[in-house]
Amino acid sequence: MANLIHSQVDLHKDFGGVVPELAARDHLERLPHLLDLAFKGAGGAANDVDLIAVTRGPGLAGCLLVGVGVAEGLSASWSVPVTGVNHLWGHIYAAMLTRPDLEPPLLGLVVSGAHSDLVSMPEHGRFEVIGRTRDDAAGEAFDKAARMLGLGYPGGPALDRLARTGDPRRQPLPKPSLPGLEYSFSGLKTALLYRLRDLGDSAGPQEKADLAAAFEQSVVESLLEKLDVALSRSPVSDVVVAGGVAANTLLRRRAAEVVAGRARLTMPSPELCTDNAAMIAVAAYHDPARRSTTVEPSLGWD
Ligand code: KG4
Ligand code: ZN
Repeated sequence: MANLIHSQVDLHKDFGGVVPELAARDHLERLPHLLDLAFKGAGGAANDVDLIAVTRGPGLAGCLLVGVGVAEGLSASWSVPVTGVNHLWGHIYAAMLTRPDLEPPLLGLVVSGAHSDLVSMPEHGRFEVIGRTRDDAAGEAFDKAARMLGLGYPGGPALDRLARTGDPRRQPLPKPSLPGLEYSFSGLKTALLYRLRDLGDSAGPQEKADLAAAFEQSVVESLLEKLDVALSRSPVSDVVVAGGVAANTLLRRRAAEVVAGRARLTMPSPELCTDNAAMIAVAAYHDPARRSTTVEPSLGWD
């Protein structure tokens, strides 16, 4: 009924990345205000609420603590149960906001600032990780590459925009290739660093755009190569690609091509790919274990 986001981009942009302590303090300041706005937007009141869903992790500890503290406080004062939701589950469930008839079993690829995970979801509330990254996540790789290219924060969307004006064939970069369903993006990052060092002053705006396009292509093709293998090994009728990096223009186009004719692909709309509260609500709605009143932290898919 209402889905509000308070962006912290302005708070962190001078530092070139998220400063955890500032992020947590800003959560504390903004959450009560956002809650007021959400009630105004939804036209409801506290006694209309059946359940409070809060992210329990993975994420930045300080921010999670603030969220859980606020949720537990509201739960006590409103006498409404509170349930903890796994952040990564939330990314998958965001797809159900875009396509309400979507049901497991499905194959999921969650690509965010800290994760590049391939998961099999046999039923609601069950996720089996079948592939992951050995080092950087795709979002982290995009952010670091953007920084090397002198783009501002947040890096992923800036690199996406620059790549649209480049040609990946003019400055080709290697595509990471690990056995099985594993990812690795640190070597690709090093390749970009060395290429920029070799180009030196001759790296003008067009060379940088070409490098952005080549970097993006290597990440996207690597992500989809493993999705392709996973889909061939265990065919399913539904595939979900989600998480912040799923807002990427090339990934959206290429994922549609790779999955076409083999399964139905759902990618949340770009606003629902990056972190948001609606995905946490919908994950709680479908969670068979919801209404447990304890909020346990999580570091992975548990
Ligand atoms: O899921 P998310 O909002 O937060 C985490 O849970 O990490 O993902 C954020 C990540 C960042 O690394 C950001 O640069 C990346 O998603 N991202 C993108 C794009 N939009 C966000 N990466 C590439 N292209 C984009 N358009
Ligand atoms: Zn996320």
